[in-house]
Amino acid sequence: MTSTSRRTLLRAGLAAGSAGLLAACDPGGPDPAVHHPSSASPGSAGGLVIPDGFVSPSGAEVRSVEAGRHPGAVRSFRLTATAGQVDLGGLVVDTWSYDGRIPGPPIRVTAGEVVRATLVNRLPAETTLHWHGIALRNDADGAPHLTQPPVAPGAEFTYEFTAASPGTYWLHPHAGAQLDRGLYAVLLVDDPQETLAYDDEWTVVLDDWLDGVAGTPDSVLAKLQDAGAGHGEQGGEGSSEVLGGPGGDVAHPHYLLNGRLPASPETFRARPGSRVRLRLVNASGDTAFRVALGGHRMTVTHTDGFPVQPVETDALLLGMGERYDVVVTLDDGVFPLVALAEGKKGAAFGLVRTGAGSAPPPKVRPATLKGHLVGYDELAPAEAVRLDDRKPDQVIRMELTGGTTSYSWGFNGRPLTHDKLAEHLVPIHAGERIQLDLVNSAHMWHPVHLHGHTFAVGSSSGPRKDTVNVLVEDSLSVLFEADNPGLWVLHCHNIYHAESGMTAAFGYRR
Ligand code: C2O
Ligand code: CU
Repeated sequence: MTSTSRRTLLRAGLAAGSAGLLAACDPGGPDPAVHHPSSASPGSAGGLVIPDGFVSPSGAEVRSVEAGRHPGAVRSFRLTATAGQVDLGGLVVDTWSYDGRIPGPPIRVTAGEVVRATLVNRLPAETTLHWHGIALRNDADGAPHLTQPPVAPGAEFTYEFTAASPGTYWLHPHAGAQLDRGLYAVLLVDDPQETLAYDDEWTVVLDDWLDGVAGTPDSVLAKLQDAGAGHGEQGGEGSSEVLGGPGGDVAHPHYLLNGRLPASPETFRARPGSRVRLRLVNASGDTAFRVALGGHRMTVTHTDGFPVQPVETDALLLGMGERYDVVVTLDDGVFPLVALAEGKKGAAFGLVRTGAGSAPPPKVRPATLKGHLVGYDELAPAEAVRLDDRKPDQVIRMELTGGTTSYSWGFNGRPLTHDKLAEHLVPIHAGERIQLDLVNSAHMWHPVHLHGHTFAVGSSSGPRKDTVNVLVEDSLSVLFEADNPGLWVLHCHNIYHAESGMTAAFGYRR
């Protein structure tokens, strides 16, 4: 036991009509009124323990902010996490996926609608669903042991939340190294007042792949942790000037674009001259991608779902978890869409075809990859999403610590796993402007992600994002409004780092 006194928190049902049920009760006193409509098995219906003095994930504060999002029509989805074979385009692997597809079936709603998604767990392991980038009600966030008990094998769990902000988001499990299997899908929230004009829209999901080819993410994680292997056997592919050091810790044998190997690429088709919106998502476990389209410049319109003032670039860098939306006016011909594994060997690959001609080979490296690579400092938020100027009420310093020698990572020298987060909540208060100083003293870059909020990078006039690359021996401040009560994870989106301790959580005080 920690010195903090704690009480048991039981989940209240999320379904309409049960919103008035209280989530908290006294220690040992089971509340007969509390049940979850989809907690089919007893394994997923267990309680949560949260420290006294903090908002509970389905507490009154959370429900009141959710009501303020004016929940609209309910859209229902069902995702089955399943183990089985998936064809990556000539290579059939044994892996875990949603509904046997990689990426999983997309979820698409209009801003203001309510996502009601039932996750069916047919995996041989506990799992959860996390809705990356969405400022949602805390009890739908999918952080195991913090916002919900993990979903047991054979059980199901229904997530229900209002998707208030339009944009490109994605979903993945928040359990173990499952993210580095095939468990991911996009979540697109359409803007009923969309102002961007385009003829076509393509979603491009990038991934690094090892599952079923070079062990499993679990075996790779165990190897890294056992050996403190670092950049020996697993990594060591090279280093990246842009990242300031090694690209990653793991040598993934393959890279995928929309679940396909370069030898059997996805082909996007359009008319020459058409304007296409590309929604780029990096769903990988340990790889940053440098993305470019041969022969074309791209106009960046959004990052991490939020609009920016349009800016042109040749190439983009996407750390794990990051998204960019770009608009491109297409030439006549066949063009390679290449996502180089930054500081590693290989690339994900796709084709854009607007006319006749033979396809460039997967090994092609268009000149645009070496052209202008847009940086955060060139991005400005669209006026509507710019944070107002305000002095921070709290400055929280988070040093990114650890290394590959012991293969232990952490914030401020403390490695934490999900089951320990509730004991080490970093307190914040609703209404505060928080400045988070991310100080990287490690010889490794880290894509740092905050749940439930979209911060401004650098200053209040910086672009709004939820995931930000902190380069080797660099530091970066992000600012956010504490406007979404609950318990929220902050972690490195390198899944091997996160699972080796680079995880923390903020807790709103009551
Ligand atoms: Cu995509 Cu906790 O993250
Ligand atoms: Cu990291």
